[in-house]
Amino acid sequence: MDPKNLEIRVEKKKSFNVYKIREDFPILQRKVWDKPLIYFDNAATTQKPKQVIKTIESFYKNLNSNIHRGVHYLSQASTTEYECARKIVKVFINAKYEEEIIFTRGATEAINLVAHSYGSVNLRPGDEVLITFMEHHSNIVPWQIICERTGAKLKVVPIDDNGEIIIDEFEKLLSDRTKIVSVVHVSNSLGTVNPIEYIISRSHEVGAVVLIDGAQSIQHIPIDVQKLDCDFFAFSGHKIYAPTGIGVLYGKRSLLEAMPPYQGGGDMILSVSFEKTIYNELPHKFEAGTPNIEGAIGLGSAIRYVQNIGLDVIYKYEKQLLDYATEQISQIPDVEIIGKARNKASLISFVVNNVHPHDIGTLLDRDGIAIRTGHHCTEPVMRRFGVPATSRASFAFYNTFEEIDVLVKSLKKIIEKFK
Ligand SMILES: Cc1ncc(COP(=O)(O)O)c(C=O)c1O
Repeated sequence: MDPKNLEIRVEKKKSFNVYKIREDFPILQRKVWDKPLIYFDNAATTQKPKQVIKTIESFYKNLNSNIHRGVHYLSQASTTEYECARKIVKVFINAKYEEEIIFTRGATEAINLVAHSYGSVNLRPGDEVLITFMEHHSNIVPWQIICERTGAKLKVVPIDDNGEIIIDEFEKLLSDRTKIVSVVHVSNSLGTVNPIEYIISRSHEVGAVVLIDGAQSIQHIPIDVQKLDCDFFAFSGHKIYAPTGIGVLYGKRSLLEAMPPYQGGGDMILSVSFEKTIYNELPHKFEAGTPNIEGAIGLGSAIRYVQNIGLDVIYKYEKQLLDYATEQISQIPDVEIIGKARNKASLISFVVNNVHPHDIGTLLDRDGIAIRTGHHCTEPVMRRFGVPATSRASFAFYNTFEEIDVLVKSLKKIIEKFK
């Protein structure tokens, strides 16, 4: 791929130059096994731009202090930064109110929060929770736990051979018994982008609340929670160029207000006595204990970074990477792509005849290429497609067409070796 063509390939409103962008990511300059690092494991976690690294460094150099508690300068300043990060998230996903943004450890904790808090008071025996076959374990197990405790039933919408939700089956499973629908926006093992607008509006017709697992969409697709009208939206910071250990639960204010606390401790109370404890207001009611302050501030910085490029620009560029990689990989004999949905985000899962994904991953690594192999925390998806594991290459906006060429060449070499 001629790098000069890149400028034409991206129809850009803003200036987008992948080589310039790569300079922001120090880790992309390093070598692995003496080869330039090619990082295609972005669905597992993304790399961090120097702007985010600098924000975190600056926090510890200049601001470090606990928040919401101190009258001293540093505490006030770090509280302001932490709350500013909440505002950035609010604007980014177009929530109506700041207090609808709850900082969590990640998407997993956000989903657990809803399952345990909302689920514990709203689910009764005979009620149903609806998920799909392509959920990450983080959007399966919390519902299994709460269903077991409340007597509710977990129902699962099947998917077809392309890795798309079978909408007729969704309609059949949806009923007035359905109280919660929890669906992944973008599948981390298939790349499928689900029709969540339709799922949300149909679920509301039967009176169910809807949680969207946005762990794999927040970094690729512009999100407007008001337009979507979802009741909850969960995502992790580390998938969108922010640090690990920070994530967000968006919830509609009226729902969050009515929900009991998820955890007890400091910051989530207004007053405590042995006779009666009064809980704090939103969002603090759901943020017990000292939070991940630098994580939240780092998330704010990462979102600003993404906003500067523009998610619409990112989406277009990544789509071109996906189309190019799909075309190249599908031409390799003995390779089968798992997940051929019409609408996909920038990741490709594949299997190779007679070569175990772990061998593929290990040998690609020797060429400096990081991909993910395994079940990707979606064991039901692996069973649905009759494979124990897949190899997964997932692309971010700092990846290039030349890197895909290197992947394809290395893959061909490995397959040849196993013949
Ligand atoms: C679709 C999906 N949901 C949930 C999660 C869980 O995210 P985390 O481990 O950051 O909480 C992931 C992580 O890979 C994911 O891909």
